[in-house]
Amino acid sequence: MTLINDNLLLLRRQEKSFSMSFVTLRRPDDFHVHFREGKLLQTVAPYTAAHFGRALVMPNTSPPVVSASTLSSYRLEIMMACRTYSFEPLMTFKIYPALSAAELKALKLAGAVAGKFYPLGVTTNSGDGVSDLKAITHILLLMEELDLVLCVHAEQPEVSSLSAERLFLKHFYWLVETFPKLKIVVEHVSTAEGVALVESLPPTVGATITVHHLMLTLDDVINDFLHPHLFCKPIPKTTKDKEALLEAAMSGNSKFFFGSDSAPHDRSKKENHQCAAGIFSAPSALACLAKIFEEADSIAALEPFTSEFGAQFYGLPLNESSIYLEQTDEKVPRTIEKLVPLAAGKSLGWRVADDLSAQRTS
Ligand code: NCD
Ligand code: ZN
Repeated sequence: MTLINDNLLLLRRQEKSFSMSFVTLRRPDDFHVHFREGKLLQTVAPYTAAHFGRALVMPNTSPPVVSASTLSSYRLEIMMACRTYSFEPLMTFKIYPALSAAELKALKLAGAVAGKFYPLGVTTNSGDGVSDLKAITHILLLMEELDLVLCVHAEQPEVSSLSAERLFLKHFYWLVETFPKLKIVVEHVSTAEGVALVESLPPTVGATITVHHLMLTLDDVINDFLHPHLFCKPIPKTTKDKEALLEAAMSGNSKFFFGSDSAPHDRSKKENHQCAAGIFSAPSALACLAKIFEEADSIAALEPFTSEFGAQFYGLPLNESSIYLEQTDEKVPRTIEKLVPLAAGKSLGWRVADDLSAQRTS
């Protein structure tokens, strides 16, 4: 990353005013996103495609992505919605015990890069999740052979949501021991214990970190009022957990990389007596990250976290082009169609400059 006019930036900071300063960033990737389907997909997917070169698209659609044919038609739907951008969706499928070896091979041939394991009932559209990890041993063996990544929603079903991740972590010892070559991602890690576990396990294990887990604790979700647009799984936890996540994201440890978990739900489903879990962060994720990393005096750690470590873990080439983050006092829109984005109505101090995404120059 290059600070083009960092002296000016410093000066402006001292003046406590934000002026036109830029940060160039190798075009980032988002290694965990929910695009949904139909009209909602058409609304949300371009927000990701406008900023990110690639995104790992979660399969918990309705109906779910469970076969080569559903994967191919879903990818086409995404590519149509994002056709004005140079964007590559990285496709995943949902793992379920009856998935046959033939279908798994077909999924690989159709371009799947990862399979997602959802424990039964832990999050949006996981009523068809798996109740016993050992029931999918045969699938994981074949995924290891086919070099398909295993993405894990690491929450234990039917326990307190504050303990759900911590109580799931024991399963990773079994996974690593039984499938030593399988690449495994702890998705949206949300606890200090999760971070410590990932650090201690072999290089085959990495973790995505969302932007909202770097910003929020449980008190931001429930304090004087209940904030439905900040409700998500795993639930943001304590200050200690948030600090461990910030440290991991800025540490330069390549096991930790960005996955937004942008998970849009219509306002009517969020502002509801049974509020759906998920935060729509795609439009503001990079601006939020720039603010967080700058405030921690770690802006140089942003590019590896967003644009290098994830691609390296997945064995993909780094993106060639760049994006530019620009300082601004512009506010994040309060609503986008029937959705409320992360940091709605707030000024983050940064935005992605949309007309400058030319070839990387540094
Ligand atoms: C996600 C969704 O809505 O699909 N929700 C969420 O709170 N993160 C599912 C998930 O990743 O858990
Ligand atoms: Zn998710």
